[in-house]
Amino acid sequence: MHTLKDLPDISGKRVILRCDLNVPLDGSKITDDGRIVASVPTIQALVSKGAKVIIVSHLGRPDGAVVAKYSLEPVAKRLGELLNVDVAFATDTVGESAASSVANLNAGQVLVLENLRFNPGETAKSDDERLAFAKSLAEFGDLVVSDGFGVVHRKQASVYDLEHLLPSFAGLLIERELHVLQGLTTNPERPYSVVLGGSKVSDKLGVIDHLLPRVDSILIGGGMVFTFLAALGYKVGASLLEIDQIDTCKGYLAKAEELGVKVVLPTDIVVAAKFSADAAFAVTAADAIESSPFGASGLGLDIGPVSAKAFAEVISASKTVFWNGPMGVFEFENFANGTRVVAEALSQVDGLSVVGGGDSAAAVRALGFPDEHFSHISTGGGASLEFLEGKAMPGLEVLQ
Ligand code: 3PG
Ligand code: MG
Repeated sequence: MHTLKDLPDISGKRVILRCDLNVPLDGSKITDDGRIVASVPTIQALVSKGAKVIIVSHLGRPDGAVVAKYSLEPVAKRLGELLNVDVAFATDTVGESAASSVANLNAGQVLVLENLRFNPGETAKSDDERLAFAKSLAEFGDLVVSDGFGVVHRKQASVYDLEHLLPSFAGLLIERELHVLQGLTTNPERPYSVVLGGSKVSDKLGVIDHLLPRVDSILIGGGMVFTFLAALGYKVGASLLEIDQIDTCKGYLAKAEELGVKVVLPTDIVVAAKFSADAAFAVTAADAIESSPFGASGLGLDIGPVSAKAFAEVISASKTVFWNGPMGVFEFENFANGTRVVAEALSQVDGLSVVGGGDSAAAVRALGFPDEHFSHISTGGGASLEFLEGKAMPGLEVLQ
């Protein structure tokens, strides 16, 4: 893979930099700027080499239409604050604003183009449509630096097709992400534990399948745990449940037993009357969820305190831990304990501790944990999972 070390002289050259600046927003307020912060080292490296830096990114899923709430303008503003320079912003991606902004760019200056996904070509299924859009992007650059690790699992115009059109190099973030994630797949120090949460089992099937033969323990919480509890024959009230995945979960439990891998499931659950921050709640045994005061309409919103402690013990005793997916609805204080206890234990691991991106990264920051307390907080949610699944990733393959 070509990296920044292989760059030719880029002084005065136009460098298109693909970042993943897809950050969570509350209106125009950025609630976690982790991905912007993680993009800074590559931007600074290019600026210091005198390049004209043209940053492209997606935000959200506007599906090829201009949707004001997905504008990258607040992101460009935040980037300017972090870089402590004026960052120019073009109000379109390949239109007049972009063209004139690129033409006016001086060496060492930074420009952000509007959301790539406002253009149907970015995410088009049709190879021709994507290529046509990539060609119009390519006109703005002499070369491409690809650094949007969070999106390398997508075969999209700016991630894949553009890199076929111009000389392409991986940025510092992609290098760092790969270095850390390779530490999880090549001779990880043992015990090796993986903590999985989040709402859907179906999002995690590939990774469970792939990791089962490779780890010592898998700890499961979050909304996905109820499908596992159902696989044990427990009633789960109105908790999240993927009925069509119960048999798959049974299969995983059987396979884990055969392989001698410990699957740690919660033994107690925080059950709520409804899905809201101020809902009444009670702690029940995991096999008696419907015996809470809310009966069959109770829904599990967090792992219970006994389970959180048990999870923390397994994590603390591990030398390598990967965590993806919150243990409960951490956005609501009453249901944040499981996630907080797991994050705390992870922050104290004496070894490699990796937080998979997306919700888990947002969770550790929302709960006030400094980034430095973990070996690495990935900027890729889906991307880090697919990496661990051993899947081919279009945005990385094209850089080989
Ligand atoms: C993400 O947040 O998962 C990445 O930015 C990729 O976005 P996507 O899942 O909408 O393709
Ligand atoms: Mg995603």
